[in-house]
Amino acid sequence: MPNENKNIIAIDGPAGAGKGTLTKKLCEHYKFAGLDTGSLYRAITLCLIKMGTDMDKLDEQFATDVAERLSDTHEILTYAKNPEIRSQLTNKYVASVAKIPELRKIMRKYQTKFAINPPSLEDGTPAKGAIIEGRDIGTVICPDAPVKFFMTANAETRASRRLKQYLDQGETANYQEVLESIIARDEADRTRETSPMKQADDAIVIDTSINDKEQTFEMAKKIIKEKLNLE
Ligand code: CDP
Repeated sequence: MPNENKNIIAIDGPAGAGKGTLTKKLCEHYKFAGLDTGSLYRAITLCLIKMGTDMDKLDEQFATDVAERLSDTHEILTYAKNPEIRSQLTNKYVASVAKIPELRKIMRKYQTKFAINPPSLEDGTPAKGAIIEGRDIGTVICPDAPVKFFMTANAETRASRRLKQYLDQGETANYQEVLESIIARDEADRTRETSPMKQADDAIVIDTSINDKEQTFEMAKKIIKEKLNLE
């Protein structure tokens, strides 16, 4: 494909590490298009829940067929905009949907396309690059990305952020349960067979328990200047 986008930034890391916040700030700053790949898995999960699927005995073929249909019809984007993708119920089941190998293949196509040919920005101007965030972006989806970050933070910090998010959404939640569910999801994501969450060898680690939003942003900009020569 001519004019393939080469300005690709891969951001990986566990739940609540601050990937979304950094992606948003970088996209605004550099006029890049951003893709939150977690929202795609969440969208499929939400759709399955709304269909009344027995999520505790999930049929992998059925889930894969639903993912394919949502992706083909672009309905996945409608579900991805639904705030319910961030509910505790969706959080509970998303990792069991995301571990299905055939379903991940479908999502991989979607993500690669976005990286190579990012969509225009909301104001209609062409994107100057792509930022893709998830769990396997630097390792599987965009292994050649010139910039890779692996964001992390201790589980307690991440649980406090997630608790605040649930309360802000008007849900009832308690810290201990949120902490346990974050630890369980991290474990599921790290130990699954297909595309586990993993730090790429060439990724730069940013720990957001010790760096606040501004420090994180400044660290990322410094690396992007070095690697992509962008201000
Ligand atoms: O927002 P949070 O950091 O909690 O998670 P997310 O990025 O929205 O991802 C939700 C879930 O989707 C993860 O726990 C993974 O199970 C799955 N996921 C994945 O398997 N691969 C990705 N590239 C992104 C998310």
